[in-house]
Amino acid sequence: MTVFKEALKLDWKALAAEIDNQVFAKTLDHAVKKVSDNLIPFTGKFPSSGGVNGVYQPTENADEFLYSDWTSSFWTGMIWICYELTGDSRFKETGLSHSASFRERYDKNIILDHHDIGFLFTLSCVAAYKITGDEFSRETALLAARKLASRFRDKAGIIQVRGRLDDMENEALGEFIIDCCMNLPLLYWAARETGDRSFSDKAYSHIKNVQKYMVRPDASTYQNFRKDIATGAPIGGWIAQGDSHDGACWSRGQAWAMYGLPLSYNYTGDATLLETCKAVSNYFLNRLQSDLVPNWDFYYKTDEDQRDTSASAVAACGLLELARNLPVTDSDREVYEAAAKTLIYALIKNYLYCDGESPNAILKSGVYAMRTNLCVDEPVIWGDYFFMEALQRLTHYYRSFW
Ligand code: GLY
Repeated sequence: MTVFKEALKLDWKALAAEIDNQVFAKTLDHAVKKVSDNLIPFTGKFPSSGGVNGVYQPTENADEFLYSDWTSSFWTGMIWICYELTGDSRFKETGLSHSASFRERYDKNIILDHHDIGFLFTLSCVAAYKITGDEFSRETALLAARKLASRFRDKAGIIQVRGRLDDMENEALGEFIIDCCMNLPLLYWAARETGDRSFSDKAYSHIKNVQKYMVRPDASTYQNFRKDIATGAPIGGWIAQGDSHDGACWSRGQAWAMYGLPLSYNYTGDATLLETCKAVSNYFLNRLQSDLVPNWDFYYKTDEDQRDTSASAVAACGLLELARNLPVTDSDREVYEAAAKTLIYALIKNYLYCDGESPNAILKSGVYAMRTNLCVDEPVIWGDYFFMEALQRLTHYYRSFW
């Protein structure tokens, strides 16, 4: 299927040229201080997936009632970013203590029958191993990668989103979701660490299914798609976390694709993934509101509608990953870098919690799930993580955890 690539409507290079780059380093310092100030309050705990009146609550590594089944590692990832930036041993000690917590979660199989094992163990144990060489973290990440790989449906060629694979009554039979693009790096990493190509073959098969079935002809995306697990035949797509109207497109799902496609390119060298990423990115960039932040679903087109700042933070990281992988001779490279910078600047200008406004959150106006009224217009912990990652990329040497 050919995917239509819209021409960009804004002059992103001109917009980025107006920005004083020092603002990025200053904001990153502010974020690092916030993480540092919260190490003690969150000792042995993790911030909740979203805030209540702008404040995260301390939770266990996984808490199904707070919908934090996939989110605890974002705090760990923020801590590792802080260690990379400062070398302060408090961050390292806390990050390594989280590896023990994730190992306990693995050993006891606490809420792990889902695809988000990738988010959880990449930003905790893979990051810990890449930064410190800690063998326990490596071993734990490999155990998690095996568990994730075991979710692969051979005939369909995808990683099933949730439910035990031997449960044939499960409502998610043969279902995969766009968010899973970000779980694939755990498999690619495991293939490199062990030399076992079956990990990366599964990840590559999954991303090719995303490219083929979830990216629609106009370069918008479905969040969900189902295939027949017996025959591998495609059944159809829908959007669970976005809006239900025809023509809806969940902006965070679009952002997961923007970041996931170039991450898979990194490990496979399949340049068609970058071409698809450009089309998906242009769709996203052409539909921002006047403050250059997306609404939670692109079906909603006015400035009065609810933004999702976390979609913007994820998208900015995706654009930087896309730009990094384009040849220097590709004129789009500078455009996407400029767009990423401008998205982050827009968040800094209008959506930062100022001193005294929140003790522990960084970015305002995220949305977890609009349809169930879950954390709407609140900070969400992954928004803070990707915002910090983008700031690190814009200001420092960046070692990818993905
Ligand atoms: N399900 C992951 C997300 O809310 O983006």
